[in-house]
Amino acid sequence: NPSFPHHPLPHPDLVTVADTDILLERRAAQALDSLMAAIGGWKEIVPVSGWRALEEQQAIWEDSLAENGLPFTQTYVAYPGHSEHQTGLAIDLGRRSASIDFIRPDFPYTGLCQTFRREMARYGLIQRYPAGKEITGIGHEPWHFRYVGQPHAAIMEARGLTLEEYIAWLREFPYESCRYQEKNAIVSFLPGASDGPTILKRDSDLPCTISGNNVDGFIITE
Ligand code: DAL
Ligand code: ZN
Repeated sequence: NPSFPHHPLPHPDLVTVADTDILLERRAAQALDSLMAAIGGWKEIVPVSGWRALEEQQAIWEDSLAENGLPFTQTYVAYPGHSEHQTGLAIDLGRRSASIDFIRPDFPYTGLCQTFRREMARYGLIQRYPAGKEITGIGHEPWHFRYVGQPHAAIMEARGLTLEEYIAWLREFPYESCRYQEKNAIVSFLPGASDGPTILKRDSDLPCTISGNNVDGFIITE
């Protein structure tokens, strides 16, 4: 049908987490499950919120606005259409208990929760909104984790970078001139063209993934 849009948004490939009805993008769910298996995590940790449809993020925003007011809501709830929960790559986790706060679950910096944090980068997961990193635009969220994969999680952890800082740092490594190597992976930045499609001129046949940085270009991982 020529009158139909030709480029619908990709729908995340969603799977359930830990026998709940909470959904995550498949690679994120697999990473989380492997980490939890390695540390025996599910005995004390529960998934609280994973993938959210736009309508759910909208409802969370409106409910929080009515209940908690604007400053709290802006600090702890992403504006509808801007939440990484909508990608299926983010998961909120809570320590198992009789009552769990849906917006701010308890996930302490001790015990099994801290073991989770210590091991997570190896599985491609990061704490997305650390304390003292207002650059993210969101308050400190000890419970919110994001799958970014490797080598990105390891580089971000080693350098203490949030995703915003990592995306900015990668600009020092343009694909055409100066790629960054970390163990057996090479990362670089390809600026998006301002006039028409962006062209990537490959100069090797290394396996490669291309991810939009959701700002102004692409992260190339070889
Ligand atoms: N709590 C995070 C910021 C979200 O709503 O996506
Ligand atoms: Zn979250």
